[in-house]
Amino acid sequence: MDFDRIIDRRSTESLRWQIYPQDVLPLWVADMDFESPACVLKALHERVDHGIFGYDLATFGLKEVFIERMQNLYAWQVTDPQLSFVPGVVTGFNLALRALCQPGDSVIFFTPAYPPFFSGPKSAGLNVIECPMLEDSESNYSIDFDLFEHLIVEHHVKAYIHCDPQNPTGRAFCRAELEKLAGILLRHRVFTCSDEIHCDIVYDGCQHIPIASLSREVSDTTLSFLAPSKTFNIAGLYASVAIIQNETLAKRFTDVRSGLVGSPSSLALTAAKAAYKDGAEWLDECLIYLQANRNWLLENIQARLSGVKATRPEATFLMWLDCRQTGLESPYKFFLDKAKVALNDGLTFGEQYSQFTRLNFGTPRANLETALNAMERALKER
Ligand SMILES: Cc1ncc(COP(=O)(O)O)c(C=O)c1O
Repeated sequence: MDFDRIIDRRSTESLRWQIYPQDVLPLWVADMDFESPACVLKALHERVDHGIFGYDLATFGLKEVFIERMQNLYAWQVTDPQLSFVPGVVTGFNLALRALCQPGDSVIFFTPAYPPFFSGPKSAGLNVIECPMLEDSESNYSIDFDLFEHLIVEHHVKAYIHCDPQNPTGRAFCRAELEKLAGILLRHRVFTCSDEIHCDIVYDGCQHIPIASLSREVSDTTLSFLAPSKTFNIAGLYASVAIIQNETLAKRFTDVRSGLVGSPSSLALTAAKAAYKDGAEWLDECLIYLQANRNWLLENIQARLSGVKATRPEATFLMWLDCRQTGLESPYKFFLDKAKVALNDGLTFGEQYSQFTRLNFGTPRANLETALNAMERALKER
């Protein structure tokens, strides 16, 4: 697999590549510029060539493959009835919140946070409680457990949206952190809605641990969402997996979605099955490439972008940039206007993050070099 190959994506109406003018390099929304694994393309071609797209049982083999995967990766035993498929993790966690909460209930999550964590609960009439993470002088983020517990008690929080690996900081929470977190959640009877979409993109020295795999007590109060979408670059197909091990919660989830949110399409499930079954080699190579991109960026940002501090992602292909020392009011607007590089605006990850941006490094290295050159020049010429 040649991850250096530049593939024109504007011709496919890609959200990432179409929304900005032609002279802008888009390093924002979280998909990658790499071709999906050959096994995925082959499976899709075969399915398309069959030519009939009626209702099917594509989840059949997929469930088996996924159950084995959870066992192999996390020693986590999940069973067929505990699995269901949803067209997207955002859809999944919004359904979960509706299954767990009543309008007026409070939902908590850590900030900076993936933007739909703010909008989803609000549209369901829920109160959003933000719990800022602690940040040290090296831009490392960690959980403020005391504040978390205090906010839960103060606001009678009903549900917690867990995001691990965390977007945008790239944290992959370790077992000790997860156990402490779970202790607080169980103590105060808070349900967990777990977004683990980035679970497979984890770098050397770190590992992903599904929070529900910690213990029976935790899995009993948790609805987890995993997906092959980021892992194998098939986000536009919208295949995601819900794992709900408590029967009552699983029924509530099914009731909420019933008649409103159906299954992912046949093609989405076909791609997911092929990716999980035969995509391991591609993923290994992709992780090596991404990790090298991450390391190159960390080095070059520190050396060349004066006033910009990068958080070192342990996972995800996203890098969180603290631009406060540049004095720029909106680094997002500055880099878009002056460097023609489109990043994500930090403001969308929480009100206090207007001087931050997020960079997507799931792209050939040459694009990162172009972006860094332009960003360095823009900062120097200001
Ligand atoms: C943390 C997180 N959750 C969910 C999503 C999107 O999920 P989906 O497209 O499956 O709804 C993203 C995409 O960037 C994400 O970063």
